[in-house]
Amino acid sequence: MKHLLTIKELTQSQLLALLDLAKKIKSSPADYRHALAGKSVVMLFEKPSLRTRVSFDIGIHKLGGHCLYLDQQNGALGKRESVADFAGNLSCWADAIVARTFSHKTIEGLAEFGTVPVINALSDLYHPCQALADFLTLSEQLGDLSKVKLAYVGDGNNVTHSLMIGAAILGASMTVICPEGHFPDGLIVNEVQQLAAENGGSLVLTSDIAALEGQDAVYTDTWISMGDQTELSDIETKFNPYQINQPLMDQYKVKYFMHCLPAHRGVEVTDEVMDGKGSLILQQAENRMHAQNAVLVTLLS
Ligand code: CP
Ligand code: NVA
Repeated sequence: MKHLLTIKELTQSQLLALLDLAKKIKSSPADYRHALAGKSVVMLFEKPSLRTRVSFDIGIHKLGGHCLYLDQQNGALGKRESVADFAGNLSCWADAIVARTFSHKTIEGLAEFGTVPVINALSDLYHPCQALADFLTLSEQLGDLSKVKLAYVGDGNNVTHSLMIGAAILGASMTVICPEGHFPDGLIVNEVQQLAAENGGSLVLTSDIAALEGQDAVYTDTWISMGDQTELSDIETKFNPYQINQPLMDQYKVKYFMHCLPAHRGVEVTDEVMDGKGSLILQQAENRMHAQNAVLVTLLS
C-alpha cells in the first residue's frame, strides 16, 4: 500500500488488516505513541472540515508525529502553482500528505508528482477515511463484516462510493436507495459490481425505500455535498420520502443509524433518530481517528 486514494487499491486481507490494526491502536494507544516519531504530515484542505481535520491532527499527535495544516488562502490547489510543483515541494519536507480537494484529479496529481504517501481526506468522488471508520464501527457492533447488511439512503455521492467499494471488498451486502437521477456514478457502480463478484459481496441499487426491510443499519448523508450548487428548495420534494425518521426505522425494523456528519437535522434525518439509541454517529466520529492512525502507521512505519 503506497497511498490511500479510494480503498479500491486494497485487497480484502489488506482492508481487514487495517481494521484490525485500528482496533489495536484504539485499545492500546500507549503501544503506538512513538509510531510516527520524527515524521511530519502536511494537511491540505480546499474545503471546510471538523472531524477530518481534528481527528488527523490529534491522531498524529497521539502517534508521536507532527502535523501542519494548510488551508487554501490562495484558492484552489493548482492556482498559485501547479499541483505537480506543490507535490514536489511538499515531498521535500513532509513524510505524507493528507488532502481534501474539490476534484479527485488533484489528489491523483499529488500522488503522481509527489514522492510521499498521499491520503485522500475527501474528494468529489471518494471519502475512504470515512468508510474505514464506518466499517470499523460496524465490525465493533456486528462482528463478521461479510455478514453485514448495510443500506445507504439519499444522494449517491463520495461517501456512498467509498461505502460501496468497502462493502464489496469485504464481501458484505450493500443496498443503495436513491431518488431517480441521484444514483452513484455509473463507472464506479460497474467497478463495485466486479469487486463484489470477486469477494462474495452484493450491491443493489433501487429507488424503493421498502428495500430497507431486513437491513442491519441505514446510513445517510447530506442531500447536497460541498461544492454542489443545487438549492435545497429545488430537490426537497423529491428527497423528502428518503428522510430517515423514527417511523421509517420502526416500519422496516432497522436497528442502527449511521451518518458521516455534518448532518442537517430535520432535513435528511430527524433529531429523534440522530439522538436515538441505535445511532452510531459518535462512535463513527471517534473511529475516524483510530482508522486514520492505522493508515498512517501502515504507510509510514
Ligand atoms: N465526516 C467528515 O468528513 O466530517 P468533516 O467534513 O467535518 O471533516
Ligand atoms: N458528501 C459530503 C460529505 C461531507 C463529509 C460532502 O462531500 O460534502
